[in-house]
Amino acid sequence: MRFSLKEYNTFGINALCHKVVRVKSLDRLVEAIEKDASDKLIIGSGSNILFTKDVEETVLINQLIGKRVIKETEKYAYVEFASGEIWDECVEWAIENDFGGIENLSMIPGTAGAAPIQNIGAYGVELSDVFVSLDALDLIWGDKKTFTKKECAFAYRDSIFKNELKNQYFITSITLKLTIDDHKLNMDYGDIKKVLEENEIDEPDIADISEAIGEIRMSKLPDPEELGNAGSFFKNPIVEKEELERLKTAFPEIKFFPHSEKKKYKIAAGWLIEQCGWKGHRSEDAGVHDKQALVLVNHGKATGGEVLSLAKKIQKSVKDKFDLSLIPEVNIL
Ligand code: EPU
Repeated sequence: MRFSLKEYNTFGINALCHKVVRVKSLDRLVEAIEKDASDKLIIGSGSNILFTKDVEETVLINQLIGKRVIKETEKYAYVEFASGEIWDECVEWAIENDFGGIENLSMIPGTAGAAPIQNIGAYGVELSDVFVSLDALDLIWGDKKTFTKKECAFAYRDSIFKNELKNQYFITSITLKLTIDDHKLNMDYGDIKKVLEENEIDEPDIADISEAIGEIRMSKLPDPEELGNAGSFFKNPIVEKEELERLKTAFPEIKFFPHSEKKKYKIAAGWLIEQCGWKGHRSEDAGVHDKQALVLVNHGKATGGEVLSLAKKIQKSVKDKFDLSLIPEVNIL
């Protein structure tokens, strides 16, 4: 018997697998680990995966749910989200409860459990800014382990779960530290201030910021329900100052931003790809989004291999023109 994973990945790729287990409780998860010795592939919303072949592993679909406040101090609420919760519903829940810190991460597709793996980030905020710890079960014995923020080794779109501990743990919940009323609003990125002005909001609260970000995202990023995609396909390259100077001399219009690490800069990969003429390109059903060149799309029937082959051509042309390497952000399986 073979199951299609088309509904379980936002790229809408029709990969097949032998066995699917829907994990609705920790007991079910422990049972799945103890009774089945084969390798496991964990899927939340499948919003950061490109399948280029069928899947041999047992697929665990994460459906653990629950959102709760575990502790409150004068200034902070410590909240715990079960890993199968939809991330954006966690953001909405936080805003309804007037807990601040994740409003800039509104509308990011995916589950709460996937958020720390790639340290999701948008509009000047990263998950690591509010992260406290996570609980996980190891996929061999089913033993529980709590990881502190330091142990997660967060970096730009990166963590220990994409490196040394890749595919070794099933994250079961995450704990975040959110502000109760003295919110630190983050409005410096891109068009946030402009959109707030257009909406005539002088004294924004966290809900206004979330709404403004929703507007910006909708104007640039395709809705996976309508057009298969996994958000940014590549990471923005990080360069040292000397490298930036070389690029600025050759390409005075280049778009770049200071990186959180001192003396390093992020080059806007979307700009690089657009300059190579790829924006809006389509070959068969694999394409480059016409409003954001960093997003690759499936117009309907593209295979993972076709999307990957397009990605490779893009990498090559960016390398040839700018001498910069683009590293995929999406998990290619
Ligand atoms: N740009 C272009 N052409 C394009 C796309 C972008 O010139 O086709 C320029 C824009 O004009 C802007 C700059 O590139 O000056 C940056 O663009 P944008 O603000 O859209 O952000 P990004 O760097 O392309 C990153 C994240 C997104 C996140 C946005 C907003 C990465 C890999 N991507 O994109 O995250 O939503 O910033 O914070 O860091 C994702 O990870 O899936 C994702 C969508």
